[in-house]
Amino acid sequence: MPLKLTVVGLGYLGATHAAAMAELGFEVLGLDIDPAKTDLLATGRTPMFEPGLEELLSRHVAGLEGSSGRLRFTHSWEELADFGDVHFVCVNTPQKHGEYACDMSYVDSAFAMLAPHLRRPALVVGKSTVPVGSAERLAQTLRELAPAGEDAQLAWNPEFLREGFAVQDTLHPDRVVVGVASEHAEALLREVYAGPIAEGTPFVVADYPTAELVKTAANAFLATKISFINAMAEVCEAAGGDVAKLAEAIGYDERIGSKFLRAGIGFGGGCLPKDIRAFMARAGELGADQALTFLREVDSVNMRRRTHMVELAREAVGGGFLGRRIAVLGAAFKPDSDDVRDSPALNVAGQIQLQGGQVTVYDPKGMENAKRLFPTLGYAPTALDAVRGADAVLHLTEWREFRELDPAALAEVAGQRLILDGRNALDPELWRKAGWTFRAMGRPQA
Ligand code: UDX
Repeated sequence: MPLKLTVVGLGYLGATHAAAMAELGFEVLGLDIDPAKTDLLATGRTPMFEPGLEELLSRHVAGLEGSSGRLRFTHSWEELADFGDVHFVCVNTPQKHGEYACDMSYVDSAFAMLAPHLRRPALVVGKSTVPVGSAERLAQTLRELAPAGEDAQLAWNPEFLREGFAVQDTLHPDRVVVGVASEHAEALLREVYAGPIAEGTPFVVADYPTAELVKTAANAFLATKISFINAMAEVCEAAGGDVAKLAEAIGYDERIGSKFLRAGIGFGGGCLPKDIRAFMARAGELGADQALTFLREVDSVNMRRRTHMVELAREAVGGGFLGRRIAVLGAAFKPDSDDVRDSPALNVAGQIQLQGGQVTVYDPKGMENAKRLFPTLGYAPTALDAVRGADAVLHLTEWREFRELDPAALAEVAGQRLILDGRNALDPELWRKAGWTFRAMGRPQA
Protein backbone atom coordinates (compact mmCIF):
# COMPACT_ATOMS: atom_id res chain seq x y z
CA MET A 1 0.00 0.00 0.00
CA PRO A 2 1.44 3.44 -0.86
CA LEU A 3 1.96 5.73 2.10
CA LYS A 4 -0.72 8.26 2.95
CA LEU A 5 0.55 11.69 3.89
CA THR A 6 -0.84 14.67 5.76
CA VAL A 7 0.37 18.24 5.98
CA VAL A 8 -0.35 20.50 8.96
CA GLY A 9 0.01 24.24 8.25
CA LEU A 10 -0.66 25.37 4.68
CA GLY A 11 1.43 28.53 4.22
CA TYR A 12 4.23 28.83 1.64
CA LEU A 13 5.92 25.72 2.92
CA GLY A 14 2.91 23.52 3.69
CA ALA A 15 0.77 24.34 0.66
CA THR A 16 3.72 23.72 -1.64
CA HIS A 17 4.72 20.53 0.16
CA ALA A 18 1.16 19.16 0.03
CA ALA A 19 0.78 19.88 -3.69
CA ALA A 20 4.26 18.52 -4.47
CA MET A 21 3.60 15.27 -2.57
CA ALA A 22 0.36 14.82 -4.55
CA GLU A 23 2.39 15.42 -7.72
CA LEU A 24 4.77 12.64 -6.60
CA GLY A 25 1.75 10.29 -6.51
CA PHE A 26 0.77 10.27 -2.81
CA GLU A 27 -2.70 10.71 -1.35
CA VAL A 28 -2.45 13.86 0.79
CA LEU A 29 -4.74 15.40 3.39
CA GLY A 30 -4.05 19.00 4.47
CA LEU A 31 -5.13 20.96 7.54
CA ASP A 32 -4.71 24.58 8.57
CA ILE A 33 -6.18 26.27 11.64
CA ASP A 34 -7.32 29.09 9.33
CA PRO A 35 -10.42 27.74 7.53
CA ALA A 36 -10.26 30.61 5.01
CA LYS A 37 -6.94 29.20 3.81
CA THR A 38 -8.17 25.63 3.32
CA ASP A 39 -11.37 26.88 1.66
CA LEU A 40 -9.33 28.87 -0.84
CA LEU A 41 -6.86 26.03 -1.50
CA ALA A 42 -9.81 23.68 -2.05
CA THR A 43 -10.75 25.83 -5.05
CA GLY A 44 -7.21 25.46 -6.44
CA ARG A 45 -6.14 28.98 -5.52
CA THR A 46 -3.48 30.23 -3.10
CA PRO A 47 -3.44 33.15 -0.65
CA MET A 48 0.07 34.06 -1.88
CA PHE A 49 1.75 34.50 -5.25
CA GLU A 50 4.00 31.52 -5.91
CA PRO A 51 4.82 30.66 -9.53
CA GLY A 52 3.51 27.22 -10.58
CA LEU A 53 1.69 26.43 -7.34
CA GLU A 54 -1.87 27.07 -8.52
CA GLU A 55 -1.18 24.95 -11.58
CA LEU A 56 -0.04 22.09 -9.34
CA LEU A 57 -3.10 22.49 -7.11
CA SER A 58 -5.44 22.45 -10.08
CA ARG A 59 -3.89 19.16 -11.15
CA HIS A 60 -4.48 17.46 -7.80
CA VAL A 61 -7.12 19.09 -5.57
CA ALA A 62 -10.11 16.74 -5.26
CA GLY A 63 -13.31 17.96 -6.89
CA LEU A 64 -11.60 20.13 -9.53
CA GLU A 65 -12.26 19.17 -13.10
CA GLY A 66 -9.67 16.80 -14.51
CA SER A 67 -7.67 16.61 -11.24
CA SER A 68 -6.10 13.46 -9.82
CA GLY A 69 -8.16 14.01 -6.65
CA ARG A 70 -5.12 13.06 -4.55
CA LEU A 71 -5.10 16.27 -2.47
CA ARG A 72 -7.91 17.00 0.01
CA PHE A 73 -8.35 19.28 3.02
CA THR A 74 -9.98 18.85 6.39
CA HIS A 75 -10.62 20.77 9.62
CA SER A 76 -10.62 17.60 11.74
CA TRP A 77 -7.51 16.52 13.63
CA GLU A 78 -9.11 13.13 14.21
CA GLU A 79 -9.62 12.55 10.47
CA LEU A 80 -6.05 13.70 9.84
CA ALA A 81 -4.60 11.30 12.42
CA ASP A 82 -6.68 8.35 11.18
CA PHE A 83 -5.73 9.04 7.55
CA GLY A 84 -1.98 9.53 7.64
CA ASP A 85 1.02 7.23 7.84
CA VAL A 86 3.34 10.24 7.74
CA HIS A 87 2.34 13.68 9.07
CA PHE A 88 4.35 16.72 7.99
CA VAL A 89 4.21 19.68 10.36
CA CYS A 90 4.83 22.85 8.33
CA VAL A 91 3.59 25.64 10.61
CA ASN A 92 5.53 28.89 10.88
CA THR A 93 7.97 29.91 13.58
CA PRO A 94 8.04 33.73 13.53
CA GLN A 95 10.30 35.97 15.61
CA LYS A 96 8.86 36.63 19.07
CA HIS A 97 7.60 40.16 19.47
CA GLY A 98 10.39 42.35 20.88
CA GLU A 99 12.81 39.44 21.23
CA TYR A 100 15.36 37.61 19.11
CA ALA A 101 14.01 34.17 20.00
CA CYS A 102 11.63 32.25 17.79
CA ASP A 103 7.99 31.78 18.71
CA MET A 104 7.36 28.04 18.97
CA SER A 105 3.69 28.35 19.90
CA TYR A 106 2.33 27.22 16.50
CA VAL A 107 4.57 24.15 16.45
CA ASP A 108 3.77 23.29 20.04
CA SER A 109 0.06 23.63 19.50
CA ALA A 110 0.13 21.56 16.29
CA PHE A 111 1.79 18.71 18.21
CA ALA A 112 -0.60 19.13 21.15
CA MET A 113 -3.61 18.95 18.80
CA LEU A 114 -2.38 16.03 16.69
CA ALA A 115 -0.74 13.72 19.24
CA PRO A 116 -3.86 12.74 21.30
CA HIS A 117 -5.48 11.41 18.10
CA LEU A 118 -2.54 9.23 17.01
CA ARG A 119 -3.99 5.78 17.68
CA ARG A 120 -2.13 3.88 14.92
CA PRO A 121 1.55 3.74 14.01
CA ALA A 122 2.60 7.04 12.47
CA LEU A 123 5.65 9.15 11.74
CA VAL A 124 5.35 12.84 12.58
CA VAL A 125 7.86 14.88 10.56
CA GLY A 126 8.73 18.42 11.58
CA LYS A 127 9.67 20.69 8.67
CA SER A 128 9.48 24.07 10.40
CA THR A 129 12.71 25.94 11.18
CA VAL A 130 13.14 25.50 14.94
CA PRO A 131 15.73 26.14 17.66
CA VAL A 132 18.05 23.16 18.06
CA GLY A 133 16.74 20.86 20.78
CA SER A 134 13.08 21.25 19.82
CA ALA A 135 12.83 17.84 18.11
CA GLU A 136 13.99 15.98 21.22
CA ARG A 137 11.40 17.85 23.28
CA LEU A 138 8.62 17.21 20.74
CA ALA A 139 9.48 13.48 20.58
CA GLN A 140 8.82 13.46 24.32
CA THR A 141 5.45 15.20 23.74
CA LEU A 142 4.50 12.43 21.30
CA ARG A 143 5.52 9.70 23.76
CA GLU A 144 3.40 11.31 26.47
CA LEU A 145 0.29 12.26 24.49
CA ALA A 146 -0.08 9.75 21.63
CA PRO A 147 -2.24 6.69 22.41
CA ALA A 148 -0.01 4.77 19.94
CA GLY A 149 2.92 5.28 22.38
CA GLU A 150 6.27 4.16 20.93
CA ASP A 151 4.58 3.61 17.55
CA ALA A 152 4.17 7.35 17.12
CA GLN A 153 7.67 8.41 16.08
CA LEU A 154 9.27 11.71 15.23
CA ALA A 155 11.64 12.83 12.47
CA TRP A 156 13.01 16.27 11.56
CA ASN A 157 13.23 17.11 7.87
CA PRO A 158 14.22 20.75 7.33
CA GLU A 159 13.04 22.50 4.22
CA PHE A 160 15.28 24.71 2.10
CA LEU A 161 12.79 26.07 -0.41
CA ARG A 162 13.04 29.64 -1.64
CA GLU A 163 9.97 31.74 -2.17
CA GLY A 164 9.43 32.25 -5.87
CA PHE A 165 11.00 28.83 -6.55
CA ALA A 166 9.01 26.85 -3.99
CA VAL A 167 7.56 24.28 -6.39
CA GLN A 168 10.83 23.67 -8.21
CA ASP A 169 12.82 23.49 -4.94
CA THR A 170 10.36 20.99 -3.43
CA LEU A 171 10.16 18.69 -6.45
CA HIS A 172 13.88 18.94 -7.27
CA PRO A 173 15.67 19.74 -4.02
CA ASP A 174 19.48 20.14 -3.77
CA ARG A 175 19.41 17.64 -0.92
CA VAL A 176 17.02 15.95 1.48
CA VAL A 177 18.11 16.07 5.13
CA VAL A 178 16.43 13.89 7.74
CA GLY A 179 17.00 13.76 11.48
CA VAL A 180 15.81 10.39 12.74
CA ALA A 181 15.97 8.21 15.83
CA SER A 182 15.16 4.86 14.15
CA GLU A 183 15.79 2.91 10.95
CA HIS A 184 12.03 2.67 10.51
CA ALA A 185 11.69 6.48 10.35
CA GLU A 186 14.55 6.64 7.84
CA ALA A 187 12.93 3.94 5.68
CA LEU A 188 9.59 5.78 5.62
CA LEU A 189 11.24 9.04 4.57
CA ARG A 190 13.26 7.27 1.87
CA GLU A 191 9.92 6.00 0.54
CA VAL A 192 8.40 9.51 0.59
CA TYR A 193 11.38 11.01 -1.25
CA ALA A 194 12.01 8.02 -3.55
CA GLY A 195 11.27 10.20 -6.61
CA PRO A 196 13.88 12.90 -5.95
CA ILE A 197 16.37 10.30 -4.63
CA ALA A 198 16.01 8.36 -7.90
CA GLU A 199 16.91 11.56 -9.74
CA GLY A 200 20.18 11.70 -7.78
CA THR A 201 19.23 14.05 -4.95
CA PRO A 202 21.60 13.40 -1.99
CA PHE A 203 19.82 12.00 1.08
CA VAL A 204 21.57 12.99 4.31
CA VAL A 205 20.69 11.03 7.45
CA ALA A 206 21.52 12.69 10.76
CA ASP A 207 20.45 12.86 14.38
CA TYR A 208 17.83 15.39 15.53
CA PRO A 209 20.11 18.25 16.58
CA THR A 210 22.25 18.03 13.45
CA ALA A 211 19.20 18.06 11.17
CA GLU A 212 17.78 21.07 12.99
CA LEU A 213 21.14 22.85 12.82
CA VAL A 214 21.64 22.18 9.10
CA LYS A 215 18.78 24.54 8.35
CA THR A 216 19.85 27.36 10.65
CA ALA A 217 23.48 27.00 9.63
CA ALA A 218 22.56 27.16 5.91
CA ASN A 219 20.53 30.33 6.40
CA ALA A 220 23.23 31.87 8.60
CA PHE A 221 25.78 31.18 5.87
CA LEU A 222 23.62 32.75 3.17
CA ALA A 223 22.97 35.82 5.31
CA THR A 224 26.69 36.09 6.04
CA LYS A 225 27.52 35.91 2.35
CA ILE A 226 25.14 38.77 1.55
CA SER A 227 26.40 40.90 4.43
CA PHE A 228 29.99 40.17 3.43
CA ILE A 229 29.46 41.59 -0.05
CA ASN A 230 27.52 44.50 1.42
CA ALA A 231 30.43 45.21 3.76
CA MET A 232 32.69 45.18 0.68
CA ALA A 233 30.27 47.64 -0.92
CA GLU A 234 30.85 50.01 2.00
CA VAL A 235 34.61 49.73 1.53
CA CYS A 236 34.27 50.14 -2.25
CA GLU A 237 32.28 53.33 -1.74
CA ALA A 238 34.94 54.70 0.60
CA ALA A 239 37.79 53.74 -1.73
CA GLY A 240 36.15 54.48 -5.08
CA GLY A 241 35.92 50.80 -6.11
CA ASP A 242 33.14 48.92 -7.86
CA VAL A 243 31.54 46.16 -5.78
CA ALA A 244 29.73 44.59 -8.75
CA LYS A 245 33.05 44.07 -10.53
CA LEU A 246 34.63 42.84 -7.28
CA ALA A 247 31.80 40.31 -6.76
CA GLU A 248 32.15 39.05 -10.31
CA ALA A 249 35.89 38.59 -9.90
CA ILE A 250 35.83 36.80 -6.54
CA GLY A 251 32.85 34.71 -7.67
CA TYR A 252 34.92 33.01 -10.38
CA ASP A 253 36.79 31.25 -7.56
CA GLU A 254 34.78 28.04 -7.23
CA ARG A 255 35.43 27.94 -3.50
CA ILE A 256 33.61 31.24 -3.19
CA GLY A 257 30.99 30.91 -5.95
CA SER A 258 29.10 33.70 -7.64
CA LYS A 259 25.67 33.26 -6.06
CA PHE A 260 24.42 35.43 -3.20
CA LEU A 261 27.03 38.08 -3.89
CA ARG A 262 24.72 40.83 -5.10
CA ALA A 263 25.31 43.93 -3.01
CA GLY A 264 22.43 46.30 -2.41
CA ILE A 265 19.91 47.10 0.30
CA GLY A 266 20.33 43.67 1.86
CA PHE A 267 18.22 40.69 2.81
CA GLY A 268 14.69 40.63 4.17
CA GLY A 269 11.73 38.27 4.13
CA GLY A 270 10.20 35.85 6.57
CA CYS A 271 13.33 33.68 6.96
CA LEU A 272 16.90 35.00 6.90
CA PRO A 273 16.50 37.96 9.32
CA LYS A 274 14.50 36.09 11.95
CA ASP A 275 16.45 32.86 11.57
CA ILE A 276 19.84 34.43 12.33
CA ARG A 277 18.33 36.18 15.37
CA ALA A 278 16.69 33.00 16.65
CA PHE A 279 20.00 31.18 16.09
CA MET A 280 21.85 33.73 18.26
CA ALA A 281 19.16 33.49 20.95
CA ARG A 282 19.34 29.71 21.05
CA ALA A 283 23.15 29.67 21.09
CA GLY A 284 22.92 32.00 24.09
CA GLU A 285 20.66 29.56 25.93
CA LEU A 286 23.13 26.78 25.18
CA GLY A 287 26.09 28.80 26.46
CA ALA A 288 27.56 28.99 22.95
CA ASP A 289 26.73 32.66 22.30
CA GLN A 290 30.36 33.56 21.60
CA ALA A 291 30.33 31.25 18.59
CA LEU A 292 27.69 33.39 16.92
CA THR A 293 28.58 36.94 17.89
CA PHE A 294 29.58 37.50 14.24
CA LEU A 295 25.91 37.10 13.30
CA ARG A 296 25.19 40.27 15.25
CA GLU A 297 27.49 42.04 12.81
CA VAL A 298 25.86 40.27 9.85
CA ASP A 299 22.52 41.61 11.08
CA SER A 300 23.77 45.13 11.66
CA VAL A 301 25.59 45.39 8.30
CA ASN A 302 22.29 44.31 6.76
CA MET A 303 20.15 46.84 8.61
CA ARG A 304 22.68 49.60 7.87
CA ARG A 305 22.11 49.07 4.14
CA ARG A 306 18.55 50.34 4.39
CA THR A 307 19.56 53.52 6.20
CA HIS A 308 22.45 53.99 3.79
CA MET A 309 20.04 53.86 0.83
CA VAL A 310 17.93 56.54 2.50
CA GLU A 311 21.06 58.70 3.02
CA LEU A 312 22.15 58.29 -0.61
CA ALA A 313 18.69 59.29 -1.79
CA ARG A 314 18.52 62.27 0.57
CA GLU A 315 21.87 63.55 -0.60
CA ALA A 316 20.92 62.98 -4.26
CA VAL A 317 17.76 65.09 -3.96
CA GLY A 318 19.65 67.97 -2.40
CA GLY A 319 19.91 67.18 1.31
CA GLY A 320 16.29 66.81 2.45
CA PHE A 321 13.09 65.02 1.47
CA LEU A 322 10.63 67.75 2.38
CA GLY A 323 8.58 68.58 -0.71
CA ARG A 324 10.35 65.87 -2.74
CA ARG A 325 8.52 63.19 -4.68
CA ILE A 326 10.17 59.81 -4.57
CA ALA A 327 9.18 56.88 -6.79
CA VAL A 328 9.92 53.48 -5.24
CA LEU A 329 10.07 50.55 -7.65
CA GLY A 330 9.55 47.39 -5.60
CA ALA A 331 7.73 46.44 -2.42
CA ALA A 332 8.23 42.67 -2.13
CA PHE A 333 11.31 41.53 -0.21
CA LYS A 334 12.54 39.95 -3.44
CA PRO A 335 11.29 39.46 -7.01
CA ASP A 336 8.79 36.76 -8.01
CA SER A 337 7.10 37.01 -4.64
CA ASP A 338 4.28 39.08 -3.17
CA ASP A 339 5.75 38.67 0.31
CA VAL A 340 6.50 41.99 2.01
CA ARG A 341 7.55 40.62 5.40
CA ASP A 342 10.59 42.58 6.61
CA SER A 343 10.93 44.02 3.12
CA PRO A 344 14.01 46.25 2.74
CA ALA A 345 12.19 48.16 -0.04
CA LEU A 346 9.24 49.09 2.16
CA ASN A 347 11.51 49.89 5.07
CA VAL A 348 13.38 52.41 2.90
CA ALA A 349 10.08 53.82 1.57
CA GLY A 350 8.77 54.18 5.13
CA GLN A 351 11.93 55.94 6.36
CA ILE A 352 11.76 58.45 3.51
CA GLN A 353 8.11 59.17 4.23
CA LEU A 354 8.93 59.71 7.91
CA GLN A 355 11.52 62.28 6.82
CA GLY A 356 8.90 64.22 4.88
CA GLY A 357 9.21 62.69 1.41
CA GLN A 358 6.15 62.05 -0.72
CA VAL A 359 6.60 58.39 -1.67
CA THR A 360 4.82 56.50 -4.46
CA VAL A 361 5.37 52.75 -4.62
CA TYR A 362 4.82 50.32 -7.46
CA ASP A 363 5.38 46.55 -7.34
CA PRO A 364 4.20 43.95 -9.86
CA LYS A 365 2.77 41.57 -7.22
CA GLY A 366 3.31 42.95 -3.73
CA MET A 367 0.94 45.94 -3.79
CA GLU A 368 -1.98 44.49 -1.84
CA ASN A 369 0.22 43.19 0.96
CA ALA A 370 2.19 46.44 1.01
CA LYS A 371 -0.98 48.53 1.32
CA ARG A 372 -2.07 46.45 4.30
CA LEU A 373 1.26 46.92 6.06
CA PHE A 374 2.05 50.52 5.00
CA PRO A 375 -1.36 52.10 4.29
CA THR A 376 -0.08 55.68 4.38
CA LEU A 377 2.42 55.32 1.51
CA GLY A 378 1.29 56.37 -1.97
CA TYR A 379 0.74 53.64 -4.56
CA ALA A 380 0.63 53.77 -8.36
CA PRO A 381 -0.84 51.18 -10.75
CA THR A 382 2.24 51.06 -13.01
CA ALA A 383 5.95 51.87 -12.87
CA LEU A 384 5.39 54.72 -15.30
CA ASP A 385 2.71 56.25 -13.05
CA ALA A 386 4.96 55.95 -10.01
CA VAL A 387 7.78 57.75 -11.82
CA ARG A 388 5.56 60.54 -13.18
CA GLY A 389 6.78 63.84 -11.71
CA ALA A 390 9.26 62.14 -9.33
CA ASP A 391 12.40 63.93 -8.14
CA ALA A 392 14.15 60.56 -7.75
CA VAL A 393 13.47 56.94 -8.67
CA LEU A 394 14.61 54.22 -6.25
CA HIS A 395 14.93 50.70 -7.66
CA LEU A 396 14.55 48.51 -4.57
CA THR A 397 13.30 45.05 -5.69
CA GLU A 398 14.91 43.57 -8.79
CA TRP A 399 11.88 42.41 -10.78
CA ARG A 400 12.54 41.52 -14.41
CA GLU A 401 9.81 44.04 -15.30
CA PHE A 402 12.06 46.84 -13.99
CA ARG A 403 15.07 45.65 -15.98
CA GLU A 404 12.89 45.75 -19.07
CA LEU A 405 11.66 49.31 -18.50
CA ASP A 406 12.46 51.79 -21.23
CA PRO A 407 14.58 54.53 -19.59
CA ALA A 408 13.75 56.93 -22.45
CA ALA A 409 10.00 56.56 -21.87
CA LEU A 410 10.45 57.10 -18.13
CA ALA A 411 12.65 60.13 -18.80
CA GLU A 412 9.70 61.78 -20.54
CA VAL A 413 7.49 61.67 -17.45
CA ALA A 414 10.02 61.96 -14.58
CA GLY A 415 10.38 65.27 -12.74
CA GLN A 416 14.16 64.76 -12.44
CA ARG A 417 16.14 62.13 -14.33
CA LEU A 418 17.71 60.65 -11.23
CA ILE A 419 17.72 56.94 -10.46
CA LEU A 420 19.32 55.04 -7.58
CA ASP A 421 19.71 51.31 -8.01
CA GLY A 422 19.44 49.65 -4.59
CA ARG A 423 19.85 46.16 -6.06
CA ASN A 424 22.71 46.57 -8.55
CA ALA A 425 20.51 44.94 -11.13
CA LEU A 426 19.96 47.67 -13.72
CA ASP A 427 22.33 48.47 -16.59
CA PRO A 428 23.92 51.86 -15.77
CA GLU A 429 24.94 52.52 -19.38
CA LEU A 430 21.40 52.08 -20.67
CA TRP A 431 20.04 54.63 -18.21
CA ARG A 432 22.86 57.11 -18.63
CA LYS A 433 22.43 57.00 -22.41
CA ALA A 434 18.78 58.00 -21.93
CA GLY A 435 19.89 61.05 -19.97
CA TRP A 436 19.55 59.74 -16.43
CA THR A 437 21.88 60.40 -13.53
CA PHE A 438 22.45 56.83 -12.37
CA ARG A 439 23.74 55.96 -8.89
CA ALA A 440 24.24 52.53 -7.37
CA MET A 441 25.38 51.22 -4.03
CA GLY A 442 29.08 50.44 -3.78
CA ARG A 443 29.79 51.57 -7.33
CA PRO A 444 31.51 54.68 -8.60
CA GLN A 445 29.42 57.51 -9.96
CA ALA A 446 30.11 58.17 -13.62
C1 UDX B 1 15.76 31.78 2.18
C2 UDX B 1 16.73 30.64 1.82
O1 UDX B 1 17.35 30.92 0.57
C3 UDX B 1 15.97 29.32 1.75
O2 UDX B 1 16.87 28.25 1.49
C4 UDX B 1 15.25 29.09 3.06
O3 UDX B 1 14.49 27.90 3.01
C5 UDX B 1 14.36 30.27 3.41
O4 UDX B 1 15.11 31.48 3.41
P1 UDX B 1 13.96 33.20 0.83
O5 UDX B 1 13.67 33.91 2.11
O6 UDX B 1 12.83 32.74 -0.02
O7 UDX B 1 14.83 31.90 1.12
O8 UDX B 1 14.84 34.21 -0.04
P2 UDX B 1 16.29 34.26 -0.72
O9 UDX B 1 16.18 34.00 -2.17
O10 UDX B 1 17.25 33.45 0.04
O11 UDX B 1 16.62 35.82 -0.54
C6 UDX B 1 16.66 36.38 0.77
C7 UDX B 1 16.94 37.86 0.71
O12 UDX B 1 18.30 38.10 0.36
C8 UDX B 1 16.12 38.66 -0.28
O13 UDX B 1 15.68 39.86 0.35
C9 UDX B 1 17.09 38.96 -1.41
O14 UDX B 1 16.75 40.13 -2.12
C10 UDX B 1 18.39 39.09 -0.65
N1 UDX B 1 19.59 38.82 -1.46
C11 UDX B 1 19.78 37.59 -2.02
C12 UDX B 1 20.56 39.82 -1.63
O15 UDX B 1 20.42 40.93 -1.11
N2 UDX B 1 21.68 39.54 -2.36
C13 UDX B 1 21.89 38.34 -2.94
O16 UDX B 1 22.93 38.18 -3.59
C14 UDX B 1 20.91 37.33 -2.77
